[in-house]
Amino acid sequence: MRSLIDLPVSLSRQSAVPLSSQLAGWLREAMLAGTLAPGERLPSSRGLAAQLEVSRTVITEAFQQLYAEGWLEGRHGSGTFVASVETHRPGTAPATPSPAPAPVEDLAAGAIDLRPGHPWVRDYDRAAWKRAWRKAGDLPPGDHPDPYGLPRLRELLAGHLRRTRSVAVEPANILVTRGTGNGLDLCALALLGGGGRAGVEEPGYHVARTVFAARGAEVVPCPVDEDGVIVDGLPDDLGLLYTTPAHQYPLGGRLPIPRRERLLAWARSTGAMIVEDDYDAEFRYDVAPLPALYGLDPSRVVLLGTLSKSLAPDVGVGWLVGSPELVARVAALRSGLSDRTSGPVQEAVATLLERGDLDRHLRRMRLEYARRRAVIVETLGPVCRLRGDTAGLHVLAELPPDPSGGIVERARELGVLLDPAERHHGSGRPRGLVIGYGSASLAEVRRGCRIVAGLIAEAQSGGAGSRVRRIGSAREA
Ligand SMILES: Cc1ncc(COP(=O)(O)O)c(C=O)c1O
Repeated sequence: MRSLIDLPVSLSRQSAVPLSSQLAGWLREAMLAGTLAPGERLPSSRGLAAQLEVSRTVITEAFQQLYAEGWLEGRHGSGTFVASVETHRPGTAPATPSPAPAPVEDLAAGAIDLRPGHPWVRDYDRAAWKRAWRKAGDLPPGDHPDPYGLPRLRELLAGHLRRTRSVAVEPANILVTRGTGNGLDLCALALLGGGGRAGVEEPGYHVARTVFAARGAEVVPCPVDEDGVIVDGLPDDLGLLYTTPAHQYPLGGRLPIPRRERLLAWARSTGAMIVEDDYDAEFRYDVAPLPALYGLDPSRVVLLGTLSKSLAPDVGVGWLVGSPELVARVAALRSGLSDRTSGPVQEAVATLLERGDLDRHLRRMRLEYARRRAVIVETLGPVCRLRGDTAGLHVLAELPPDPSGGIVERARELGVLLDPAERHHGSGRPRGLVIGYGSASLAEVRRGCRIVAGLIAEAQSGGAGSRVRRIGSAREA
């Protein structure tokens, strides 16, 4: 074990930043730079307190913070260690060539992509992935695709949803889709029947608006606030309401229980169905996720899930959960359209679920995303209000009225790609930036956020950009 006293830790008692935060910040930098390596044991809190001449509380608070962010791990009876989760540090090449990050049309070489929508697809268990495909390849391709999906996968998904989303589901409640987009399309067909009125959260997921409109529905914007969709004032003539109660997209609210009850009461009294998009419920960092809304009233809710965030969008597998009658209706409509999910892909996904590979991947990614999120909070928190930072793969950085356009342009010039929040509003109302941390590595998130923080500070002070010039561009860092 190395003594931290050998390393240049310097804590300032004059600083307004608490000593524990200074120490946590220093440790984070050291782990990011590789000065403290994964698996390395840290000194005991007593020893470290003595070395740094601070109280033990300072040390334990710093350690607790880093535990919560996933940087440290404890091994029973043997101390505190730097967590051994792989991170992509600048200049660290993966052992085997990795696929490129999710396709980004205009991604300039070296640019940092802080737009939402894409998960990190570079750290997956290659051996597990190959094993799953070998197993799928052992089976002959089928000649009669099952519109419900593979019985084996439906069985495994029922177990997965019971464990992860606390809902009582049986295979008869599940139809395997190609992802949320496909699920939304099937819902539009089954619940609106070519026409009708579809409520969509405003701001909300643009794909839901597009899919419902493409199926001939009138899209009705339904306002949301910090907690999620506002129930009072919802129209009483909607065929369905699309909502993201676990982590509102893009504002990030988690629909509180009383509002969930009111939403279901509204659905019962108007006859509307609720389409619950549970796209990133696997990633929550502060408190355990609330059970899916579906569990409160399976007769009024259709739950849509996807592997797009938890594994990769390219896999093209998701699920639609509803009453057995609704699932049967969707399956019949689907057959009529010759719409199906690839059998070999379902076989491979079933193997990943069966062997616990997906659960392991989720655990690893939860830690990695928690670290990136902590960097965003630390870097952007001081210059703007962040919303929705307790879950998922994105946060909303609230900005004063309408400076986001200028910041997006300036950031692009400096090599950072950003997503203006107005893109998520049917009405184009600006609200800030939706910052995604799925596509950029931890080091890139840090560099990108420093640049964005500089731009926000500059916009707030109406300044001439001196701070941003000092920070430099993404490519230099
Ligand atoms: C709100 C929301 N729902 C669902 C998805 C995933 O959609 P799909 O499963 O069609 O890839 C995304 C992906 O970005 C999303 O942002």
